[in-house]
Amino acid sequence: MKKTVLVSGGAGFIGSHVTVELIEAGYDVIVADNMSNCDRTCFEGVKKITGREDLPFHLVDFCDAAAAEKLFSENKIDAVIHFAAFKAVGESVDKPLMYYRNNLDSFMNVIEAAQKNGCTNILFSSSATVYGEPDVVPVTEQTPRKDATSPYGNTKKMCEDILQDCVKASGGSLKGILLRYFNPIGAHPSALIGELPRGIPNNLVPFITQTAIGKRECLSIFGNDYPTEDGTCKRDYIDIVDLARAHVCAVARMLDGKMEQGCEIYNIGTGRPVSVLELVNAFEKVNGLKLNYRFAPRRPGDVVAIWADPSLANEKLGWKATRSVEDTLKSAWEWEKHIAGR
Ligand code: UFG
Repeated sequence: MKKTVLVSGGAGFIGSHVTVELIEAGYDVIVADNMSNCDRTCFEGVKKITGREDLPFHLVDFCDAAAAEKLFSENKIDAVIHFAAFKAVGESVDKPLMYYRNNLDSFMNVIEAAQKNGCTNILFSSSATVYGEPDVVPVTEQTPRKDATSPYGNTKKMCEDILQDCVKASGGSLKGILLRYFNPIGAHPSALIGELPRGIPNNLVPFITQTAIGKRECLSIFGNDYPTEDGTCKRDYIDIVDLARAHVCAVARMLDGKMEQGCEIYNIGTGRPVSVLELVNAFEKVNGLKLNYRFAPRRPGDVVAIWADPSLANEKLGWKATRSVEDTLKSAWEWEKHIAGR
């Protein structure tokens, strides 16, 4: 009997890639999204890649508890992966209440509706942001969490705590997995789905590809006086398809009854630090072009260097990042060209 996974926020960047991988792994998927931060491009792309023209889609705002309840009561859902959330760090500083209201309410409604309707497997998309500026790198899951530097980061921490508390209170019936993502980049090799930032991109790779295609004049590299080899910040950039596959492994672990704890936490990264300058150079080299960039002042709130120790995920989930940063940057460029040509 096929298992059904609900993907909340499934029309977005990460959700759409996860939907593809779940379908390809043999799961039935229900996509739900309120479309507040995306259009139908990625959902249509998912249908094309998987050949699933009948892929179920529900226009749902999970902040609406009754709508969440309706979705769970009318469908047999074995596991839910919760992505539906706001994600712009800067915006969250200006509009904290909007972030707390949306990101917390929607997740609590999902947990409540899931539990009430017998769905006992919940996977939450968390972030390496919970580690703040770590004292030691790479970070393991045991690395202490630090105070969040933005309301966005705080919602990730709070949602982690909410799920852990609910799992504890359930007396063993509810299972939770927290996946802490490092920096997801790139696009599906088909170039039919990818990142579609609204307005000026906050994140590095969409800014790079938009500069390369001429949508932006110049990339600002925020800070070249950090205490790193080349003075720019270091991150763990993980290919979006690799990241998506980690969800399939995590869902399988839950649904196959393999979990060793009520709530498990995994770092989803490559273990490979790459500086901003290294990433820019790799992008130029692999795509054979020159990028217009300049050094600019540091961006407030940026951590100097963070990358994952992914060995727990490697061992327990049987998952490993496989794509090179070069291949991933090629896919990001193919996607930018695809959307420019629409
Ligand atoms: N950067 C630039 N120029 C840009 C954009 C980014 O130099 O135009 C630099 C940043 O300063 C940083 C690096 O590129 O050093 C990566 O920046 P991103 O914004 O792409 O990613 P972050 O590591 O800042 O953000 C990630 C996730 C967020 C999460 C955050 C918390 O994308 O969702 O970590 O630290 F909230």
